Amino acid sequence: MKNFINISDLSKNELRSIIDNAKKRKSERGKKPNSEPDLNQSIQGKTMIMFFAKPSTRTRISFDLAVKQLGGSSIILNQDEIHYGKGDETIKDTAKVLSQYADILMIRTDSHKDIDEFKKHLEIPIINGLTNLSHPCQIMADILTFEESKGDIEGKTLAWLGDGNNVANSLIEAATKFKFELNIACPKKYQPNKKIIDAAKKNNCKLLITEDPYKAAKDADCIMTDKWISMSDKGDKKKKKKILQKYQVNKKIMKVAKSDAIFMHCLPASREEEVTSEIMDGKKSVVWLQAFNRIHAQKSIIEWCMK
Ligand code: CP
Ligand code: NVA
Repeated sequence: MKNFINISDLSKNELRSIIDNAKKRKSERGKKPNSEPDLNQSIQGKTMIMFFAKPSTRTRISFDLAVKQLGGSSIILNQDEIHYGKGDETIKDTAKVLSQYADILMIRTDSHKDIDEFKKHLEIPIINGLTNLSHPCQIMADILTFEESKGDIEGKTLAWLGDGNNVANSLIEAATKFKFELNIACPKKYQPNKKIIDAAKKNNCKLLITEDPYKAAKDADCIMTDKWISMSDKGDKKKKKKILQKYQVNKKIMKVAKSDAIFMHCLPASREEEVTSEIMDGKKSVVWLQAFNRIHAQKSIIEWCMK
């Protein structure tokens, strides 16, 4: 079974083939409307079930379009519509049933452990559509977006400013595999997952973790950030926002990066918190392309899982 749960689960070659296939399929489609299928409908007659325990705009719609373009169909379910998540049916039983109804499952949930439990009992591939720990589909779309904007990512420098959250964790795993330098600036209290940092260091990832946003941003090819408060955050939000204030991406910090640096954000954004509108709507921002590329990266992830 080929599951797409964490970037670290795949080899460098597999990840590269997913990005290259996404580029090829995207260019072959040209300017076709989003709802029109590709010429090569590789998952015709197949069904994807999507389950969302948390809200989603991009993941939900881009996966739906991805499945349509590949010739398949999708069923989208929310937290209050099925038994899983409410504790009245085990993950094992849910997995056994879903395996008979569909050909692939995509799930967004609070607990990363639930995905691992699903994996144990499913007879179909599973894709991680965001957990408290990681957001690998987002980072694959971000690699695609970076390369469309600035060429091969290998050897380039990316800087992440702010909360060391699920998106940052997947970015660290990508830095190891795609061999780019990654500077992370965040307060000690909000560093990315320790196990993921340790694994990256063990695998010779060029990873800098600092509390100084200017040090991280210096000469970077790309500055990235995300909301200071994630959907799974349970602590004191006001306090967290105060601590993160000095990591805001604004004109002053963008000046420290390379003059042709780009700005990325997975969205949704809290404007004037982690990023100013001036940067988000400015010339260096590629945030809308990132959101669009979710369709193309995910088509390629689905194909990889189902081959
Ligand atoms: N970036 C992202 O995953 O967005 P949604 O929460 O809207 O799916
Ligand atoms: N870190 C954010 C990403 C949203 C796409 C969250 O988990 O809420």
